[in-house]
Amino acid sequence: MQKPFYLAIIVSILSIILLVYYFDTIGSILKEKQPETLFETIKNPEKEVVTRNPGKYALMAANVDEKKNLFYFFYLPFAAEAWRKIGFEPIVLLISSHETSLNGFNNNNPPAIRTIEYLKDMGATLKLIKSDKNYGLVTAMLCRLFVGVIDELMDEDYVLTSDSDLIPVGSNYYRIEDMEAITAWNAFCCGNFDFKKRTFQMYPMGHIGMKKKHWRGVMKLNPLTKINTQSIAKLLTESYDASYVKEDNKVGRGDGTWNADQRAYEGARFDRSEKDKSLRFLVENEFNRISDFHGFHSDFMERWEVSDLLFKRIFTYTVYENLTIFYKQFKESLPIK
Ligand SMILES: *[C@@H]1O[C@H](CO)[C@@H](O)[C@H](O)[C@H]1NC(C)=O
Repeated sequence: MQKPFYLAIIVSILSIILLVYYFDTIGSILKEKQPETLFETIKNPEKEVVTRNPGKYALMAANVDEKKNLFYFFYLPFAAEAWRKIGFEPIVLLISSHETSLNGFNNNNPPAIRTIEYLKDMGATLKLIKSDKNYGLVTAMLCRLFVGVIDELMDEDYVLTSDSDLIPVGSNYYRIEDMEAITAWNAFCCGNFDFKKRTFQMYPMGHIGMKKKHWRGVMKLNPLTKINTQSIAKLLTESYDASYVKEDNKVGRGDGTWNADQRAYEGARFDRSEKDKSLRFLVENEFNRISDFHGFHSDFMERWEVSDLLFKRIFTYTVYENLTIFYKQFKESLPIK
C-alpha cells in the first residue's frame, strides 16, 4: 500500500470513530439538548477531582524531543495566548520520552525547555505525555484523541482540538453554536474515504470540538486509560492493524492529505504557502478577514518579520512584548549551526 493511503487513514481515524458514534449516539445527544444552564451542573461529582466552573479549552500537542522541526513547538506560546484571547484556555500535551515530571524538566533540548517555561509562566495547563523512543510523532498526532481521560479537565468542559502551529485570529470563526453537539470546523474540506467496504466522510483533525464526556464516548475510552504510546498503538491496532503504528521517520509529511485542512476556507488564511508580499498586504489591509495563521515550517525563523506583523495586530501590547522576549530567547537557545 502507498504512503498517501496510510496518511489518509491516520488523518481519518477520528472521522471513522465519529461516524460510528454518530449513528449510535449523536441522535440522542441532540434530542437531549439542554439549556445553557447545564454549565452549572456537574455530573458524577464524586468522580470529579477538579472543582471549578466548566470552561472552554483549546487542546494542542507537540513532541518536545523534536530537534529538527522546531516549528512544531515554537508557535505554542503564540497559539496559547491567541486562544486565551478569544476565550479558550490553552491546554498543551507535551510529548517526551525523557522524563515523567515537568518539575525540573530537562530533555537536553533548550528551545523546547524555553517554550515550556513560557507556557508555565502564562499559566497554561500542561500535561507531560510519555512516549516510547522514536514514536514521538505518532504519539503527538494521536494523543489529542484521548481528551476524554485527561484528569485536568472536567466532564462538562468543552474541548476543541487544534494544531501546535495554528494560531486563531478571527474570534467569529470559533464561535460555538451548540455546546452539546460535536462540531468539526472546515468539515467539508476533505472528501470521503473508503475502508472495509464502507464510505466515511473525512474530517480534518485541525479543529473538532465537544465536551470531554462526549470525547470519552466517541472514543469508547475506559476512564482509567493512560495516555501513552502503548494506548495509542492499541487504538490503531484495534481500528486497523499493527502496521499502522509507525516510527517517527516512517510517517510521511507534506502531501495532499496532510495539508487537506488548508483548502476550502471562507475568509482568508494567513498561510505559509503565500508569498511574504501577499501576507503583508493581508495584514495591513484585510486584517479583519483573517481567520487563522498556519505557522511557517522550516523557514519559520527567516520569515519572523512577516509573522511579527500579524502578532502585533493580534495581541495587546503587553502580551506582544512578552512574546517578543520569548522569540529572542528562543533564538538564543538554538544550537549553533
Ligand atoms: C508578561 O510576563 C510577566 C513575567 O513573566 C508576567 O508577570 C506578566 O503577567 C505577563 N504579561 C502578560 C500581559 O501576559
